[in-house]
Amino acid sequence: MSFVAVRKDAIYFHELHATADTMAAEIHAGLSSEQKALPPKYFYDKKGSELFDAITRLPEYYPTRTEIGLLRRHAPEMAELLGMQSFLIELGSGSSTKIRLLLEAVRPRIYVPMDISREHLITAAQRLADDYPWLTVHAACVDYSRPWDVPDFGPGRYNAFFPGSSIGNFEPGDALRLLRQVGRLVGAGGGLLIGVDLKKDADILEQAYNDAQGVTADFNLNVLAHINRRLDADFNTGNFAHKAVYNAVSGRIEMHLECRKDHTVCIGGTRYSFSSGETIHTENSYKYSVEEFHGLAAQAGFSPVRVWTDREGLFSIHYLKLG
Ligand code: TRP
Repeated sequence: MSFVAVRKDAIYFHELHATADTMAAEIHAGLSSEQKALPPKYFYDKKGSELFDAITRLPEYYPTRTEIGLLRRHAPEMAELLGMQSFLIELGSGSSTKIRLLLEAVRPRIYVPMDISREHLITAAQRLADDYPWLTVHAACVDYSRPWDVPDFGPGRYNAFFPGSSIGNFEPGDALRLLRQVGRLVGAGGGLLIGVDLKKDADILEQAYNDAQGVTADFNLNVLAHINRRLDADFNTGNFAHKAVYNAVSGRIEMHLECRKDHTVCIGGTRYSFSSGETIHTENSYKYSVEEFHGLAAQAGFSPVRVWTDREGLFSIHYLKLG
C-alpha cells in the first residue's frame, strides 16, 4: 500500500493510482456497445466541475440546498456522533463546500478530500487550508471506478463523508462494492455520514435534471467536449440533445444524449456511427427510500445509527457505523 504525500503549499497531495489512466479504452468500450454509453467520471474536467457547481445552485435542483439545510440544522448532533479528532475522509469532495458546515464542530485531526478532478481538488483543498489554519489537509486524487489504495494514517477513529447522493450515481452492485471499500477505509467502529436522495414524485425529479436555464444540458454535453479535448475526437455537440427521464421501475433518473441526425464521429482514428434518435447513456441517479438504503448499507456491514430528513421528505443524511 502506498500513500506517499507530496507537499503542495498548504496541503499534502496524494495520487491513489499507480497505473496510467485508461480513458481511450473506456470510451471505445462504451461507444461500441448496443446501448452506447459513456462513463460519468468524464463529466469532470475543469469545465465540468464548474458546470456541476452551477447545477447545485439551480432553483430546480433541490438536493444541494436541502442537504445543506440538514447539515446546518444538525451539525452539533452529527459532530457528537462523529467524535472529535477523527480522520475525516470525504469522497468526491468537489469544491469542499459542505464540509465547511461541519469542520468547526467536528475539529478533525486530518481532513482528506478525495476527487477525480485533480486541479479542482488541489485548488479547493488549498483554499480550505488557508481558511482553516489549524486544519491538516491531505488531498487525494482518486477514480472510484478503479481499485484504489485506502489511506492509512495509523490508529485512530476514521469517518467517511459522502454527501450529494453521489452513491446514487453507481449501479447498485457497484454502490455495494464502493460501500465495502469505504468499510475498509474506516475499519471496525468507523463511521459513514452519507447524503442520499429519496424516492419521490417523478415531476419533481425530472424538473431537477431538466432545468430551465439548460445548465444540466451543458454539463451533459460537456462530456463530448472533454473527449474532443483529450482524445483527438470530432464530436459536434450541436448534433446531440440532453435528455433526463425518471425510470420508476428501476427507481432512477437516466441521463442521455440523444442524437439529432445520422452522422459519424472520429475518435483517435476510429469511426463511430450515430443514427438520429439513438442515445448515449451518460449517467444514472438512483433514488433510495430510507429502508432501501439501510438494506444496501447492511450488505456492506454498516449498521444505521441515525437518519435525518427534511420535512418534505426530499433528501436524507444517514450516519452509519461499521459493525
Ligand atoms: N449525485 C447527484 C445527483 O445524482 C449529483 C449529480 C451527479 C448530478 N451527476 C449529475 C446532477 C448530473 C445533475 C446531473 O443528483
